[in-house]
Amino acid sequence: MMEEILKGLRASAEATRLRILGLCAHAELTVSDLVEILGQSQPRISRHLKLLVEAGVLVRNQEGPWAWYRLPEEGTGGELARLIVDLLPSDDRQHAQDLKRLQSISEGWTSRVADFFRQHAGDWEQIRSLHADQAAVDAALLAALPDGPIESLLDIGTGAGHVLSLVGKRAQSAIGVDRSREMLNVARSNLFRAGLRHCQVRQADMFALPFEDASFGAITMNMVLHFADRPDAALAEAGRVLAIGGRLVIVDFVTHHREQLREEQAHRWLGFDDAQIQSWCRAAGLYPLPPQHLAGGELTVALWSAERRA
Ligand SMILES: C[S@@+](CC[C@H](N)C(=O)[O-])C[C@H]1O[C@@H](n2cnc3c(N)ncnc32)[C@H](O)[C@@H]1O
Repeated sequence: MMEEILKGLRASAEATRLRILGLCAHAELTVSDLVEILGQSQPRISRHLKLLVEAGVLVRNQEGPWAWYRLPEEGTGGELARLIVDLLPSDDRQHAQDLKRLQSISEGWTSRVADFFRQHAGDWEQIRSLHADQAAVDAALLAALPDGPIESLLDIGTGAGHVLSLVGKRAQSAIGVDRSREMLNVARSNLFRAGLRHCQVRQADMFALPFEDASFGAITMNMVLHFADRPDAALAEAGRVLAIGGRLVIVDFVTHHREQLREEQAHRWLGFDDAQIQSWCRAAGLYPLPPQHLAGGELTVALWSAERRA
């Protein structure tokens, strides 16, 4: 423990490395983001990052060709990094300038996001036009989650982070997973802009979640299950990481006949019925709660909730 603290302090006790910690506390960043903000060469920045990661005050998360750096959520290294970052005076000229540059490069992310949305907007608009008002679906999702603060939230198939933006404020910590790196980059940008520093995203497959058993108090799956080859396996995996007393909320379509969604939007299932979902939840060791249907438009959206009981 003492050794870990000393290692973390030694690694942080250098001007550029302190600036890196100050930046990564605000957003998950790549080497090229940091090169652009700090105006130093890539090999230099990479060396600093390596030292910080080895000392446990920063974590590196590789997604395909990209490595992302952020402060660790837990452990001595994470606590130490946060303490150090909190001590950085907000009126320090250098630190303020770094944050300004971060803000300005994030505008570049924003335009990437806008391009991505333009490409997909048509598909999403089409889906939305088929079901109840999005605001009503969002309100029902919020109401289906346990009352009060949520200690740890997992959003499976987070996409652009819609659910994290919606529920994030109520969660003490929240993580979204998705298999699409492109979607996750959009999510990162959205979370940064919303100031949701305690929310993060990771690339992961819903069938093999990189988390220990019983890690989350609440899990959401919003419009994801109809893409799953094996929805039963996806629910079993969600059930595995749900803590005792925790709640899973699934939002998806009720069985429908709009065949063209298979072709046009790669839907694997044309919705689900209550009994099917409830039996998969039971098989996952969960206790199903009464479902809720939101009619409106051609497709009905349902919310299926289930709890893990002792
Ligand atoms: C229609 S989007 C919904 C996104 C988000 N939940 C929302 O409410 O806006 C479905 C998402 O599921 C993700 N997805 C599909 N199969 C997945 C899998 N096997 N593991 C993780 N994510 C997956 C897709 O990449 C996509 O981002």
